[in-house]
Parts: sequence; structure tokens; C-alpha cells
Amino acid sequence: MESIVASASSQIDDTRHENVPRRGPPGVFVIFGGGGDLTHRLLVPALYNLASAGLLDRHFSIIVVDRADVSAADLRQSFHKSLENFVTSRGTEAVSLHDDVWTRLSSSIDCVRGSFEEAATYDTLAGKIGSQNCIFYLAVAARFFGTIVDQLGVSGLAKESGKVFRRVIIEKPFGSDLASAIALNERLLRTLDESQIYRIDHYLGKETVQNILALRFSNGFFEPLWNRDNIDHVQITAAETVGVEQRARFYESTGAVRDMVPNHVMQLLAMTAMEAPISFDADAVRDEKTKVLKAIHTVQHHDVVRGQYAAGSIKEQPVVGYRDEPGVDPHSHTETYVAMKLMIDNWRWAGVPFYVRTGKRLAARKTEIAVHFKSAPYALFRDTPVDRLTPNIMLLHIQPTEGVTLQFSAKIPGPTVHLGGVRMKFDYSEWFHEGPSTGYETLLYDCMIGDATLFQRADNIEAGWRVVQPVLEWMHAPAGLDFYAAGSEGPKAADDLLARDHRHWLKIGS
Ligand code: BG6
Repeated sequence: MESIVASASSQIDDTRHENVPRRGPPGVFVIFGGGGDLTHRLLVPALYNLASAGLLDRHFSIIVVDRADVSAADLRQSFHKSLENFVTSRGTEAVSLHDDVWTRLSSSIDCVRGSFEEAATYDTLAGKIGSQNCIFYLAVAARFFGTIVDQLGVSGLAKESGKVFRRVIIEKPFGSDLASAIALNERLLRTLDESQIYRIDHYLGKETVQNILALRFSNGFFEPLWNRDNIDHVQITAAETVGVEQRARFYESTGAVRDMVPNHVMQLLAMTAMEAPISFDADAVRDEKTKVLKAIHTVQHHDVVRGQYAAGSIKEQPVVGYRDEPGVDPHSHTETYVAMKLMIDNWRWAGVPFYVRTGKRLAARKTEIAVHFKSAPYALFRDTPVDRLTPNIMLLHIQPTEGVTLQFSAKIPGPTVHLGGVRMKFDYSEWFHEGPSTGYETLLYDCMIGDATLFQRADNIEAGWRVVQPVLEWMHAPAGLDFYAAGSEGPKAADDLLARDHRHWLKIGS
């Protein structure tokens, strides 16, 4: 988070700030499940990008722990292949690999073959790690989280001494409901101190999500307006065009509510709605996030819409409905879409609805937060051709475009009073020229330097689950699932949810 504060304030005088973070500490980065997709697509490219930026220590190395029988040489080769595909740039320019950087990084890769349950795996690992700093990344199915951490405890690998740190990064899903999340936290905390646990939510690695705080708290003109006196409502959208892909097994028992809401959507909501922390210290930020999530009113059944995609078309190509996807039960009641109206019971937000929606196979890929301001009084325009005022909306674009748009009214040139809605846009990629990024670089680097601000604390995770818990309890009933055509704006019931309040969703598709 240091970087967020520095770069935000440096822009005040219109100078492009050169951020020079310090090199990470020496140590070993152990990836459990390191032969898998996440490691190939995100972790190794992110470590490579950090190495290219000069942020890895000379004594930084990687150990892959996997059950599969692969050699370090095979792994290096398959990582190299995926690196060529996945090292991306922020824009559309192609990025070429720096062979010297990759040669140095790949020569540091070692591997340990073994089961996650067996003590022998950890003994071998301990022999290789010795007394070095170590980050254990659990890129494994959630059922192994507890087992691996127990074994790290038993083998002594979780023990810190003096300045030597031992940290564990845990992927989602963190539990499948409130009770299991609490149980998992209790289990981890039997071995580890909270300060050693880094629960990752990749949404917090997105620059524009981090920018929400910089935008709100480093500018004088947003914060005085950021409350129930001036804001009518907020819409949070995380829309995807992809379907269930190859993940039917996972998704059938997960669904859109568990997959996206307690984690990603709640992070977006918390960043938008939290009070200013007293500092950018990890605990100060996380205290405020938890506080605002805890202030969310118990969600009511009639304020939730669950949907599932039927056949339709995406980019003019026909696609099948969810129930016809490979591996999906033809009678499945798993939701691929959810919309909810949430109310936050505190002084800042009482009476301001937060409408959130997320789904697969929607009209466009778009994650954004739309802050709708209250209308100006109309009286002045009564005797003019203006029949209504354009609502003032501040749009925080998270992806695929990254930036901020302000929508307001302006007079259309001419002799009579006509107003038009205009948009003023700040585009991240036009203004800043950032290096290549997968979104994981900041998170991995922050873990290396011991900054947990962008990771979720136990109470954060539990507060997110608490919001959706009532929905999980009603979900057992097959009733209450609305269908929508793939490629559409979502189920009609979601439009009705807002229409009831005389509001409407911003369009997802163009
Ligand atoms: C993951 C979910 O956590 O986030 C996926 O499991 C989803 O189902 C993905 O597609 C969305 O992430 P992003 O970064 O593409 O918005």
C-alpha cells in the first residue's frame, strides 16, 4: 500500500511519478500445487514481472511442491511456454521476454514431489529451506488448506524465529459458508499467528480497486459528497461473458453467490463505502472494511434475485445454456447470476441502497461501480424545453477498461435551453504507462515485504460470509431461480428489483 499513497499524491502537480519500491527480502517461495493452472497462468508470470522490475532479491528461489511426477527441468520448460503466452502488458502492445531475467529466475526453481498429507514431503521441504525466510503459497483445492497448514505446524516449518519469517498465502474459496469459514480460520490459527496468514482476493490486486481508496481519500472534493445527503444509490456490477468453462465440478457446488459475492463483490463494496482509516496501516484499513460489512442489514429474501443462463449468443456466436454445459446436471439449480439490494445501517449510508449484481454469460465483460448522485432541483428548468435532468453518475471502471468517468449535464449550444448528458473520462492506460502486470505482482510483493493491507483478515472474511449466509440458507429450495438468455443483461427479475424503487440498472452491453 505504500505505493498507492505515494503515487496518488504525486499526481497533484501533474508530474508522472516514478515509484521506486525497495527490493523484496531474500527467501524461498514454495508453491503447493505448483504444477497447476494458477501457477502457470499467474504466479510464475507475476514473479517474472517482479524479477524484471528488479524487485526480487538475488537470493530468491522457488520450490514447487506437487503430487505429479515431474522434474524441475520439465517444470521450467512448461512455465517458459506459458510465460510466453501470459506475460501481458497493460495495453495491447506485445511484450517480449527478457531471456536473462527468465534464465536467472528459472535456474532458481526446484521441486519436491510428494503428497500434501505425508510428513515425508515436509521433511524434504524443510531440508531444502533450512533457516531461510519462506512464503508458502497454497495453490491447491480448498480441502487441502487445513491439512497443509497442520503439516507445516507439525514439521516446524511454520515457526518464525528472530527475523526469519514464515508466511502462508491462501487462495479462495475460503470456506463454503459462514460456519466453514469460521472453522477454517480456527484451524489455521491453531498453527499460525494471524500476522502470518495472507488470505488472497485477486480483486485487491487490480490497480483500479486499489485506486478507489486513493481517489476517495487523497482528493478533497469527493469525500464531502460521499454520503446519504448527496448519493441516491450505488450500483456494483461484476459481469462476465464467459460461461462455466471447464469448471463445472467446482461451480455446480459453488454457484455465483459463493464464488463472487462474499469475496470480490464485498471487497468492492467495502472499498466504496468504508470510512477513512486513520492510516494505511494494514489493520487500520481492515478494521474499517470489516466495520462497514458488519453494518450491512440482514438481506431480505425479496431483495435477492438468482438467475441461471439459458442458451443464447455471445459475440454473435450461439452458446448453450448452463444445464447443457459439459459436467453440469441437466436439472441443476446452481445460480450463475445474482443481484442483491443491500442497505448499510450507519450514519453515512442509511437509506442509500447498494445494488450489486454478478453473473456469467452476460452481455459484456464489465466490472464497475456506479455512484449515482441525487438530482439537482428541477424548478429552474420548469419553463424550458428541458423535461428532466441527466443524473450525475461517477463511474469507477475496474475492468476491462480502467478509469473514472463523471457524467453530468451541459447546455447544448444554441439559442434555446436544451441540456445534454456529457461524460468526462480519465483513462488509466492513457495517463500512466505501467509495466506488464497479471494483477498478482502487488499482492506477492506485499506479502514479501510483510504488508497485509490488501489481504483479508479473519474477521473480514467472516463478515463477507455473514452477508450472504441468509441467501445460502434459502437456496436449497429449487424455487426462485430466474432464467436469462446468454448474452443478455440478466434476468428480468433483476430489472424488477430496481424498478420497484423507481430506478434502473446501467446497461452492461453497449
Ligand atoms: C474468480 C471466480 O474468483 O473470479 C471466477 O472463481 C471468475 O468464476 C473470476 O470468473 C473473475 O475474475 P476476473 O478477474 O476475471 O474478474
